[in-house]
Amino acid sequence: MFKPETYILRRKALKDEIRTGLAIFPGNTEASFNYPANTYHYRQDSTFSYFFGINQPDLAGIIDFETGAEILFGNDVDMDDIIWMGPQPSIADRGAQAGIKHTAPLADFARYIEEARTAGRKVHFLPPYRGETKIQLSEILGIMPKEIKESASVDLIRAVVKLRAVKSAEEITEIEKMVDVAYLMHTTAMKMAHPGIIEQEIAGTIEGIALANAGPVSFPVILSINGQTLHNHYHGNVLAEGRMMVVDAGCESEETLYSSDITRTVPVGGKFSSRQREIYEIVLNANLKAIEAIKPGIPYREIHLLAARVITDGLKAAGLMKGDTDEAVAAGAHALFFPHGLGHMLGMDVHDLEGVGENFVGYDDEITRSKQFGTAFLRLGRRLQPGFVLTVEPGIYFIPALIDQWKTEGKFTQFINYDKVEAYKDFGGIRIEDDVLVTDNGYRVLGKPIPKTVEEIENLMRR
Ligand code: GLY
Ligand code: MN
Repeated sequence: MFKPETYILRRKALKDEIRTGLAIFPGNTEASFNYPANTYHYRQDSTFSYFFGINQPDLAGIIDFETGAEILFGNDVDMDDIIWMGPQPSIADRGAQAGIKHTAPLADFARYIEEARTAGRKVHFLPPYRGETKIQLSEILGIMPKEIKESASVDLIRAVVKLRAVKSAEEITEIEKMVDVAYLMHTTAMKMAHPGIIEQEIAGTIEGIALANAGPVSFPVILSINGQTLHNHYHGNVLAEGRMMVVDAGCESEETLYSSDITRTVPVGGKFSSRQREIYEIVLNANLKAIEAIKPGIPYREIHLLAARVITDGLKAAGLMKGDTDEAVAAGAHALFFPHGLGHMLGMDVHDLEGVGENFVGYDDEITRSKQFGTAFLRLGRRLQPGFVLTVEPGIYFIPALIDQWKTEGKFTQFINYDKVEAYKDFGGIRIEDDVLVTDNGYRVLGKPIPKTVEEIENLMRR
C-alpha cells in the first residue's frame, strides 16, 4: 500500500468532484468462496483499491459527500479464519493504513445504504462487472441484476475516470517497476525463441518471472508463432525457423495493482529474413513515429491515424498496397493489415478503467468513437493530458480468413494488391508495444528500454 495520505487525498479529491449523496464501493469477494476453494487468485476491485488500498475480500467502503463520512466495512477474522489464513490485522488497523478512522461490520454497509435511500438521498455506484457484485448491489438497492449497470451513476463514473486517468508520481513509479519486470520477461522470451522449443515452455517461464518479481501477469500471456490471431492464448506450437513469435505480456503489482503491457515480436532463431525485416521495419517505424507525436492536447485518434498512414506508406513501398495514402486511410483500407486500435490507457487495469465503460475513458463529447472497421476498435481517442499513461501498439497482420473475405468482396481493390498479399498468408503477424507517459510537453517511454530494433533483437538472440 501507499502511505495513508495518498488514500486520504484521493477521497478528498472525489469529494471535490461530487457534492450530493454518497458513493458506495463494494470490494471484490472471492471468485469461488465455497467449493471448489482456492480455484482463483484473489483480485481486489481496482477502484476500491484506489480509494481504500486494502487487498482483501469482503470489504466495502462509503464516501458520504454530504456528511463527509468515510467508512470501511468488514468483519474481523474468527478462529476458523485464523486456522486457514493465519492471524490477520483487525479491520480498524487495516482502515488506519488507508487513513480511515471509522470502521464497521460488513452487515452495516447495507443498513447505511438503506437509511440513505429512505431519506431520499442519491446513492452513487459504479457499474459492477462481476456476478457476485451485481447480486450484492441488486439485493441492497432493490434493482434487478440485469438493470444494475444502467442504473450506475454517470457522475461517479466521470469523477473516477477524471481522477484515475491522471497518474501521480508514485503511480508512475509503480507502473515503471512493472515495465522493468516486463523487460526480464521479454528478454528471457527472446533468448528462448529458438527452433524446437514449445511455446508453453516460454509462456510458463515468463509467467514465473512475473510472479517471482512482482505479482501475477496483468492478463493471460499472449504468445504465439501465429501472431496473426491478435489475442492468441494457445501455447502448443513448436517454434520453427521462418516463423515470428509475438509475445504480448506484462505483470501487475501484487500490492498496488498497477500493471505493464508490452509486446515484442522476434524471428524464431534470432535472424530476420529480408521479408520479415521489411514488414518489421514498417511496424517499428509506426511505433516510433506514434510515440514521437505524443504530447498534451493532441487527440490520440490523430496519432492512431498517423500510425495507419505510416503502415500504409510502408506497405505501398513493399508492393502490398497502392494508391493515395490519405485516401486509403480515410477509407479504412489499412485495417486489412492493422485491424485494431493503436493503444489504450494503462494503470490499475491493463485497459485502464475498462470496467466503468470504455467510452467514458477513451472518448468524450468532442471525440466520439468511429464506426469504421479498425478505428472502431481504438480504445482511446480523446485529447491527451499530462499524466496519462497509455500503450502504443501498432501491428501488421496477415489474417488469411480476412484477406479471403475482402478479396472475394472486391473490397478496396484500388488500395490493396491482393495478388501480392496472397503470398504473405503464411507470414503471421507483428506487433510492437510500449508503455508511455504523457509529460507536460511531450512523452516519456516508461521503464528500461526493451530491445526492439532489428539489430538489438538479433544481438540479444545471438547464441
Ligand atoms: N495486451 C493486450 C491488449 O492490450 O489488449
Ligand atoms: Mn495493450
